[in-house]
Amino acid sequence: MPSQATNTQANARTASGHADGRATSGGIHIEGLRKVYGKGDSAVEALKNVNMTVAPGEVVGLVGPSGSGKSTLLKCLGAIIEPTRGRMTLGDQVIYEDGWTVKDLRALRRDRIGFIFQAPYLIPFLDVTDNVALLPMLAGQSNPVARARALELLTALDVQHRARAEPSQLSGGEQQRVSIARALANRPPVILADEPTAPLDSERALGVMRILNQMARQFQAAIIVVTHDEKIIPTFQRIYHIRDGQTVEEAGEGRALD
Ligand SMILES: Nc1ncnc2c1ncn2[C@@H]1O[C@H](COP(=O)(O)OP(=O)(O)O)[C@@H](O)[C@H]1O
Ligand SMILES: [Mg+2]
Repeated sequence: MPSQATNTQANARTASGHADGRATSGGIHIEGLRKVYGKGDSAVEALKNVNMTVAPGEVVGLVGPSGSGKSTLLKCLGAIIEPTRGRMTLGDQVIYEDGWTVKDLRALRRDRIGFIFQAPYLIPFLDVTDNVALLPMLAGQSNPVARARALELLTALDVQHRARAEPSQLSGGEQQRVSIARALANRPPVILADEPTAPLDSERALGVMRILNQMARQFQAAIIVVTHDEKIIPTFQRIYHIRDGQTVEEAGEGRALD
């Protein structure tokens, strides 16, 4: 395991505020984001003009038809593909302004962004604790510190009794909680969840949303949930609809979860 902390560089540049005077106090800010795939006649403008703000502690929905640009937006925000134009701020750090403003994108992805997918993708030969402790270890934490943090998260997610189990011994719901713990392990200011409830029944889907809302508040993470799951859409306070690469913000029902 590397033992050196490597996130200093990623923290080197911070945002002091928006041009229009709004303070940037953490969370996610996207302004005028554009993404064109390819060139010339075959160019596809997947994102035209995306504007989005998610506060620390907030969970917002991102909803839109197939091909509207949802995955492209998550990949830009997750520093997996490079946008064409615009500005993105993650947790007080400008990461993109008509070009990446962060040198080490790998460290950015590892330390500042948590990903949650439809399937848990746990590592089968590591027990639950090590599945969660792995990312902090890769980010330079000592093994005891990383394991203590893993246990704290497993406790918050009510799966601490499974700490020494292997993923194959867990129920589907427990595996998903472990994958949420893993997404939180490096205390990222931002969590991106792509259809996290799609395979779940209504009760479990609402359970995942309850957990995401609790974790957002407890760890002051800004969470974006891409979904077309009708079961969970009423839980969002705010929803961004995306159509033809443009976002429109709407108030959601914000149905209480606890
Ligand atoms: N790698 C790529 N190269 C070219 N076009 C792409 C690529 N990825 C996505 N697109 C196009 O960009 C648009 C948005 O796609 P995507 O972001 O995957 O939408 P969604 O996730 O909402 O279904 C679509 O027209 C899609 O065909
Ligand atoms: Mg997609």
